[in-house]
Amino acid sequence: MSAAQDTRPADAPLLQARDLARHYSVSRGWFAPKATVRALDGVSFELRAGRTLAVVGESGCGKSTLARALTLIEPPTSGHLLIKGRDGADMRARKDLRRDVQMVFQNPYAALNPRKTIAATLAEPLVINTTLSRAERQARVEALAAKVGLRQEHLQRYPHMFSGGQRQRIAIARAMVLQPGIVVADEPTSALDLSIQAQILNLFMDLQEEFGTGYVFISHNLAVVEHVADEVMVMYLGRVVEQGDKRRVFAQPLHPYTQALISATPALRPADRRERIRIHGELPSPLKPPGGCAFHQRCPMAIARCAEVRPALREMEGRMVACDVI
Ligand SMILES: Nc1ncnc2c1ncn2[C@@H]1O[C@H](COP(=O)(O)OP(=O)(O)OP(=O)(O)O)[C@@H](O)[C@H]1O
Ligand SMILES: [Mg+2]
Repeated sequence: MSAAQDTRPADAPLLQARDLARHYSVSRGWFAPKATVRALDGVSFELRAGRTLAVVGESGCGKSTLARALTLIEPPTSGHLLIKGRDGADMRARKDLRRDVQMVFQNPYAALNPRKTIAATLAEPLVINTTLSRAERQARVEALAAKVGLRQEHLQRYPHMFSGGQRQRIAIARAMVLQPGIVVADEPTSALDLSIQAQILNLFMDLQEEFGTGYVFISHNLAVVEHVADEVMVMYLGRVVEQGDKRRVFAQPLHPYTQALISATPALRPADRRERIRIHGELPSPLKPPGGCAFHQRCPMAIARCAEVRPALREMEGRMVACDVI
């Protein structure tokens, strides 16, 4: 019993985001007019079964906002989201679609109910969404617990009795229990010790191989992204600056922002690449993003035109890039 029935061809995209945007209206003080934060400002991509799209970018660039839109936690302000070909805005389809896009969070402890045993936590989605008998549910929970590396005796324990890495295994099992087509993972390893991170990443990859799940994997750690991604999407202030096949983008990043991110990750910087490309200054306020290219004030390659004209995403060397200078 996988979640919603999908009668489309096997290679049809599981997830299609078209110009997805989410703007927030925020107060700037008692008498000041409201301002708009364009947290997510027109993002498009497709995700297929068994593939991983990694989303990278500095704090505040809109990664979690994207995750909330994809998991139907918050509706987009504009744009479309298709889940297995069905519109995420379709209220009648919502229950099915919600089952099909599950989320794994950065902090596994906050995501688990402290008063429920692990067995009850893992069985709950099955109670709500399926007609499986108690024995069938138990069998499903036990099989999945074993797959994520939990032992039988763990099932009767409570979340506080586990380490961070084990809790994340439980959270992953919970996301997987309804066999969703898509899992959105928002920084799922950044709260864990380095030694545990690799185990959790490998677990994600093993489960993907077994179930063919499509992942949207959010991380600011490019070494992690390099390990898990098929495709990467680099975001800056709510917009995509570079998007495409991971190997291409990592081997030869084209956007100056991608170049800077990669060159700041020592493990990824080939010995022959010249000195590190530095970005100057701070991320601009999302309440007052610069005109033209949002990156121009920090960009080592900026020319006068960059302050005037916002570059459109265009195809270049087998990926999409938003830069008019290169
Ligand atoms: N509910 C909200 N109301 C107002 N502004 C918001 C809201 N949620 C997010 N924002 C703003 O939208 C922008 C994007 O935030 P988001 O949390 O998506 O970034 P992020 O890329 O996930 O950052 P991080 O790496 O720190 O998790 C930020 O400027 C943030 O302040
Ligand atoms: Mg975030």
